Amino acid sequence: MPDDSAKPPHAEHRFATRMSHAGRAGTRVHGFVNPPVHRGSTVLHPDCESRRTFSKDRFNRVMTYGTQGGPTQYALEDVICEIEGGTRCTLVGTGLAAVTVPLMAYLKAGDHCLMPDSVYGPARNIANGLLANYGIETTFYDPAIDEAGIAALMKPNTKVLYTESPGSHTFELQDIPALARAAHVRGAKVLMDNTWGIHHFQPFKHGVDVSIQALTKYVGGHSDVLLGSITVASEEDHLIVRGAASQMGHFAAPDDCWLALRGARTMPVRLRQQEESGLAVARWFEGRPEVQRVLHPALPSHPQHALFKRDFTGGCSLFGVVFQPRYAEADIFRFIDSLALFGIGASWGGYESLALPTTGFITRTATSADLGGYTVRIHIGLEDVADLIADLECGLATLPT
Ligand SMILES: Cc1ncc(COP(=O)(O)O)c(C=O)c1O
Repeated sequence: MPDDSAKPPHAEHRFATRMSHAGRAGTRVHGFVNPPVHRGSTVLHPDCESRRTFSKDRFNRVMTYGTQGGPTQYALEDVICEIEGGTRCTLVGTGLAAVTVPLMAYLKAGDHCLMPDSVYGPARNIANGLLANYGIETTFYDPAIDEAGIAALMKPNTKVLYTESPGSHTFELQDIPALARAAHVRGAKVLMDNTWGIHHFQPFKHGVDVSIQALTKYVGGHSDVLLGSITVASEEDHLIVRGAASQMGHFAAPDDCWLALRGARTMPVRLRQQEESGLAVARWFEGRPEVQRVLHPALPSHPQHALFKRDFTGGCSLFGVVFQPRYAEADIFRFIDSLALFGIGASWGGYESLALPTTGFITRTATSADLGGYTVRIHIGLEDVADLIADLECGLATLPT
């Protein structure tokens, strides 16, 4: 039988402590530290009357059917709320679904949406695909836009200001509090993809209404699970998001949630190490003659480093490297192919390092996609940083002089 001997963490506890204890209250069975995986479709009710009463409250952790989630999902929801400082969380099967569900939830035919030009590619695809098909218009904006600029782009029917900071591949930061002020006075909701910031950016303290995370990345942490979360600070937003996810049949599998729960317990220590190693490699790249600039918000050379220092308590280990313009694509491919410790893969946040060519994969319509040289996205894993740098050094030696 579950017992309640595990106490929820206190707000004053530090992050690592909260990640150790969050989501464990009421989940202990036979004394085991970790909760079991509750798999299931059918939930049995004690009698017909309780079934009728239960069904009316299905978004409020009353177990009525497998799709509404159960103890394993609830434990992870509590952990994600702890990470982002939210109050309610909806889990879905992928990070991409965590992007699409709130867009579908807050927008309807005739509405207008604002999206940063630096947005994660598949978010642009849904804006130009399903949303456009349903009669929803999207304007892509310069991610570095200020409060007056975004106010000027807002229309009476603008219902969603979508944000992602820093932007996928190009790492521009957004002035979220300023943009949120402009959105809120005009009645629009602020949605943010906070996958890069994780807990280092507290979305609800900066005016975000709905925070999206691809748990696939650092929370999962081992490149073996796909999962997304949509976290909010108000009950009203929870009902909107959860209602939309439920109508569309979104669901997060308990086995995947269990893996993400396990990942979350060690995330603080992994993240601290990966952030440190990532910065070491980013700084090393900055000192290389083959490199024109490094796109990492935590580096003082980043054009919006002041915003980073103001709004973030740290970062992760994903950044961009812009090579000198003299290198052709074939040179960069040879460099990446020669690396022994870096995989060529699209996700990030796992324990293994990755190098991904991004030039040619970036779509821009409001700003230029030309970063002035061939660009590679680097993800630093948990390998020893000296080995990674030695590998990169050998790789750079393949570039023409
Ligand atoms: C910024 C960002 N948001 C969302 C996603 C989507 O996550 P998933 O791969 O779980 O669908 C990704 C995936 O790469 C991402 O980089």
